[in-house]
Amino acid sequence: MALFVTIEGPEGSGKTTIGKKIVEKLIASGYEVIYTREPGGIEIAEQIRNVILDVKNTNMDPRTEALLYAASRRQHLIEKIVPALKDNKIIICDRFVDSSLAYQGHARKLGIDNVYEINKFAIDTLMPDLTLLFDIDPKLGLERINANKLREVNRLDLEQLEFHTLVREGFLKIQSREPNRIKIVDASKSIEEVFNAAYQLIEEAIRKFHENQRCIN
Ligand code: TYD
Repeated sequence: MALFVTIEGPEGSGKTTIGKKIVEKLIASGYEVIYTREPGGIEIAEQIRNVILDVKNTNMDPRTEALLYAASRRQHLIEKIVPALKDNKIIICDRFVDSSLAYQGHARKLGIDNVYEINKFAIDTLMPDLTLLFDIDPKLGLERINANKLREVNRLDLEQLEFHTLVREGFLKIQSREPNRIKIVDASKSIEEVFNAAYQLIEEAIRKFHENQRCIN
């Protein structure tokens, strides 16, 4: 079966930890699964990503940033996601187009629709079958990230907080537009609870996939 699942959410939402646990359980249940994240070890996508993240590039224009994310996404999609779907695998992808909509579109204020337009060119019609949105109060997310640093919240953290509040707002806005594809998972709960909620949603998507197959046959 070919199923394209993405996991979205801010830093500190636990999406990477849970994503890996989901993959382990799916494999143990006999599914063929690929776990990936942009740029996913794809050489061209890695090179593009290095340009985005290079600390020397402080004067990068937000539109340039959005275009580069979309370009890197395209290469990862063509080299990794499309072949895996053709091989009838389940793909669990940590971040995809919704990250660009929330970060560049909403938080960086380029406009969700504008950023969607350039991403449509990059991904064509290939949207995820299911997107898990790990939703968390940004304050709690930042606390989790800083947990082992044992220090007071400083001015920079507060700036980050404002940015991450916008990121969350962006994700929730996108979710309200596409509630059938994007399902909210309460990421403030324990790893076990978040994992169970996320896994249930994937099982539901697998069931739906088989129902659709029956209708086609
Ligand atoms: P990453 O290194 O994948 O870390 P994590 O997913 O664990 O937070 O993400 C790096 C940053 O890039 C993260 O702050 C989100 C941001 N990002 C965007 O702004 N737009 C995008 O399209 C993507 C994929 C990521």
